[in-house]
Amino acid sequence: MRKPLIAGNWKMNMTDAETKKFLDNLKSLEISDNVEACIISPFTSLKTLNELLKDTDISTGAQNMYYEDSGAFTGEISPNMLKDLGIDYVIIGHSERRTIFKEDDELLNKKIIAALSHNLKPILCCGENLEQRENKIQEKVVENQIRSDLKGITEKELYSKLVIAYEPIWAIGTGKTASSDDAQSMCKFIRNLLTEMYSEEFAHSVRIQYGGSVKPENVAEIMSKDDIDGALVGGASLDTESFSKLINYEK
Ligand code: PGA
Repeated sequence: MRKPLIAGNWKMNMTDAETKKFLDNLKSLEISDNVEACIISPFTSLKTLNELLKDTDISTGAQNMYYEDSGAFTGEISPNMLKDLGIDYVIIGHSERRTIFKEDDELLNKKIIAALSHNLKPILCCGENLEQRENKIQEKVVENQIRSDLKGITEKELYSKLVIAYEPIWAIGTGKTASSDDAQSMCKFIRNLLTEMYSEEFAHSVRIQYGGSVKPENVAEIMSKDDIDGALVGGASLDTESFSKLINYEK
């Protein structure tokens, strides 16, 4: 059984003080046992996040990292720095990193290898832009991303760690959600691709999230689909009440 993972990706939002306030409000709200909840904050809030969540079941994640352990890489954060803070997950290859910061698949592959070797669970993001969808090449685009980003990595290394987030770029922060059928169809395509690349058992163990304008109003419909095992949520995760509704979508 794949336990759904609902992760809030705060992006470049929330000061440390705002993080404390968010978590304070969250304490008084209900957390479902059937869902794994995760908060992915900016680096500057990770220490607070981990300290204040350590006695809860809520996981923590970072939005990015570099692949080297230390050295002359001004402005970067290393996997062992994240591990040292007790962080569970790290997003690799979010479309904003791919487009705005020009991260390519070769770099993302190195980051995934480094994350795994430090026992961090990578949330690998993939997804097409609007033009690619209009040209009906979305599956090819996603296949190329996944094959390149996981190049040379064995099933054993990925087992119980890899999460894939399918996030069509045209649905991120736009209010446009992919229809739940389109999201399911791509998540199924990804699972089939994993079956081609690895064993069927492994492919069935991997959690595949959908991301792109997920909110309390549409989360239950998205989560009702067979191959969708969670959501990566931006905007709607910034408010405690809305985040609480997302992680309690079954109720
Ligand atoms: P959104 O962002 O929910 O604000 O569309 C999702 C994401 O980029 O992870």
